[in-house]
Amino acid sequence: MKRTHHCNELRPAHIGQSVSLSGWVHSRRDLGGLIFIDIRDREGRTQTVFDPSDLAGDLFEKAAALRSECVITISGKVRARPTGTNNPKIPTGEIEVLASGLEVLNVAEVLPFPVDDPETASKVNEELRLKYRYLDLRRPEMARNLRLRSKVATATRVFMDEQGFLEVETPILFKSTPEGAREFLVPNRREAGTFYALPQSPQQFKQILMVGGVERYYQLARCFRDEDQRADRQLEFTQIDIEMSFIEREDIYNLVEGLLKRVWKVALDVDVPTPFKRLSFQDAINRYGIDKPDTRFGMELVDFTEEFRSSSFKVFGGTVENHGVVKALNAKGFAGATQGQMDTMTELAKGFGAKGLAYIKVEGGEWKSPIVKFFSDAEKAALSEKLRIEEGDLILFAADQWLVACEILGRLRLYCAEILRGQGKLDIPANRFDFLWVVDFPLLSFDKEQNRWYSSHHPFTAPVAEDIPLLKTETRKVRGQHYDVVVNGVELGGGSIRIHQPELQKTVFEDVLQISPDETKLRFGYMLDAFRYGAPPHGGIALGFDRLIAILCGTPSIRDVIAFPKTAKGACLMTETPTPVSPRQLRDLHIEVKAPKRE
Ligand code: AMO
Ligand code: AMP
Repeated sequence: MKRTHHCNELRPAHIGQSVSLSGWVHSRRDLGGLIFIDIRDREGRTQTVFDPSDLAGDLFEKAAALRSECVITISGKVRARPTGTNNPKIPTGEIEVLASGLEVLNVAEVLPFPVDDPETASKVNEELRLKYRYLDLRRPEMARNLRLRSKVATATRVFMDEQGFLEVETPILFKSTPEGAREFLVPNRREAGTFYALPQSPQQFKQILMVGGVERYYQLARCFRDEDQRADRQLEFTQIDIEMSFIEREDIYNLVEGLLKRVWKVALDVDVPTPFKRLSFQDAINRYGIDKPDTRFGMELVDFTEEFRSSSFKVFGGTVENHGVVKALNAKGFAGATQGQMDTMTELAKGFGAKGLAYIKVEGGEWKSPIVKFFSDAEKAALSEKLRIEEGDLILFAADQWLVACEILGRLRLYCAEILRGQGKLDIPANRFDFLWVVDFPLLSFDKEQNRWYSSHHPFTAPVAEDIPLLKTETRKVRGQHYDVVVNGVELGGGSIRIHQPELQKTVFEDVLQISPDETKLRFGYMLDAFRYGAPPHGGIALGFDRLIAILCGTPSIRDVIAFPKTAKGACLMTETPTPVSPRQLRDLHIEVKAPKRE
């Protein structure tokens, strides 16, 4: 009984044919002396019928004993379903297979959770799904996600090949480099006390490939970062990693827009308009309070620094005097925010260091607020006009240093939008995708605790040419040739034009980032060496492949698009990783573990 068709293949045109289907028992119903078994495989499902009056031997009893998820082959004849019993929800809904043969290939025990229920993901605790990931993967949603992932990987490879890129694999056993996220270390058995590190990205190798004359490189690259896990972060994840020689920023924008256009077409049959909008880092923060703005809705931040410069409301006036700013946003239609929601928003604001959250609720024709009594008529008029205040609005304020004030309102903007969307007051169609480039990031940011500059992106990013003279004098003002591509508030990818002159790279390492010359030589010596032998100007980008697929699948968690993801604590629940190792293994690796902990 060899499979002749898959379970999503049979149509009325097949009526009368003898077929064999293989797959899993999706469901079994006993009805009026007949047994209906829906058989499911990767492609879909088909209804089969066991009629005792037609069946030889003990086939009927065998069918009656089948449990969900047993693996079977059923053979029989395709027939039309009786009138009125069609199932328009599935493509095979007009036919059924009248069974004449059944082979049980394997039995299944009672499942820890159902795989035939579309609501499983929301009802079953995710830890259980991850422990039995092989069952979870049988669910149609997960199967669809993996299929889409594979399709997009293929489309990416085809597109990059058309554009003349070579896929080159780079090492997973790499060396430890400071800067960036915490690394995973791999002890070296051959020399006690030395380690490999898993790469956070192929950044250095791809730049060296440019020196090696590859000119156009890409890779679906696995990256490792030992950072705190969130819905959009994993310890190991995949990038579409790209690097090109003899190019400028515009070339990367063009290439990536073309790639994303192709991917959206292949995956969703959606035509993405290009070119993408561009927004400077400064404008993104000013208007949306975040460097990865969701521009599918307005609710933009409005500046009132001038209006409140000499305000008698000291919280605002005093902040401006202290070189801070006053900003506000209008959460239209959110005047009905509950006390709980107001408390949540206040806590969010306090998380950024604010002392409180000033607000105005516009209800019953009145401005309800503990602070309006301090406002002058001119201040009220300015608010009213610039925020277009109407009945039902909620106005939120932040008075602080520029970046902090913007970030507070940026966070509140997203919180309000999520709630208003849930209440049907903010319309964001599910199939809307707002792409944009965020550009002109500051090259460096200052770490107050460590009292030193660090790279906003990574130390290989080139400064904007005209800002190079400011590197050592007005460091804060230097813009990087860095760009991020953002969609619907998600940072999809980032990259930059690189430094290719060894002296400039050395200046950045040693004079700006304060890495000692010895350390620079130890960590990056080979790169500086390589740059001395004819490095072409180059640049590139990496797109988060898991995030890309999650957006296409419409899921907020990248765990849903990774076959075997890790939990927030970095564990694989199915294989129970990580584990302790034997004393002998440790000895071989010259490692001694202090206070080994076993639970
Ligand atoms: P960056 O560190 O910005 O740049 O990473 C690029 C993109 O990778 C994705 N990403 C992640 N996805 C899942 N889990 C994680 N922990 C995670 N961290 C990052 C994001 C991000 O935008 N070498 C540079 C690129 C370059 O300059 O060309 C780099 O890795 O979508
Ligand atoms: P206070 O005079 O400190 O009681 O503050 C008056 C109001 O302003 C209260 O509603 C506070 O929550 C709010 N508030 C305090 N600091 C800030 C700030 N930095 N930005 C916005 N609102 C604030």
